[in-house]
Amino acid sequence: MYNSGKVIMGIIIFLLFVAFPFYYNIGRVIATPDPSLDTPVINELVEKKCVEPREFMRVEHMTMLNDWKDSAIRDGRRAYINTEGKLFEKSLQNTCMRCHSNKERFCNECHTYVAVKPYCWTCHIEPKEKKL
Ligand code: HEC
Ligand code: HEC
Ligand code: HEC
Repeated sequence: MYNSGKVIMGIIIFLLFVAFPFYYNIGRVIATPDPSLDTPVINELVEKKCVEPREFMRVEHMTMLNDWKDSAIRDGRRAYINTEGKLFEKSLQNTCMRCHSNKERFCNECHTYVAVKPYCWTCHIEPKEKKL
């Protein structure tokens, strides 16, 4: 057949190229953080929702905690109305850690990966959890 060798080579190269994202990611899956949502309180939720949408929380939770802390302590404002109109108490322990009671497998899962160590736990009590 006319030039079939080249055509087949071309197809193979094309397939390798198209499939690149798949095999490139094979070894990496384990490395990326995988924060666990498996806690008693979250498992009981009818709607598996955080205070704000997930994408927002991912990027903004540090700023949010900072704002909460400032307004709760300085101005005594402890009510947080989220974008859906739901009420939350501005509290690290009573709000965030009540749902995310698995600090080790949730907060730390990401923080270890990006090498941040929030200093909050020198004063705030860590949720009690079973060490695996
Ligand atoms: C009512 C229970 C509840 C409370 C309170 C809560 N969370 Fe969440 N959180 C969730 C759930 C459920 C998800 C997953 C949401 C989803 O998949 O859309 C989540 C997602 C997140 C994520 C994103 C995780 C990821 O893998 O993308 C971060 C970060 C987070 N929460 C931090 C916090 C912080 C910080 C607070 C306190 C300011 C808080 N959460 C309060 C239940 C809660
Ligand atoms: C989806 C990954 C992820 C999860 C889950 C997560 N964090 Fe974070 N957190 C980050 C990243 C990334 C940073 C660093 C952001 C930066 O340096 O700009 C950070 C930074 C912070 C900071 C600021 C620390 C500093 O030194 O600036 C606080 C406070 C914090 N996280 C609290 C929490 C708490 C509390 C939880 C659990 C309820 C939590 N985070 C869960 C990814 C996560
Ligand atoms: C030096 C001790 C100390 C450190 C470190 C600390 N806090 Fe606090 N925080 C306090 C005290 C004291 C209060 C006041 C408690 C009250 O009035 O209920 C408070 C209140 C708060 C509140 C509002 C009330 C509540 O129940 O949570 C938030 C939110 C908060 N802190 C978040 C943080 C975060 C996030 C960090 C880490 C980045 C942090 N704090 C680090 C001492 C500390």
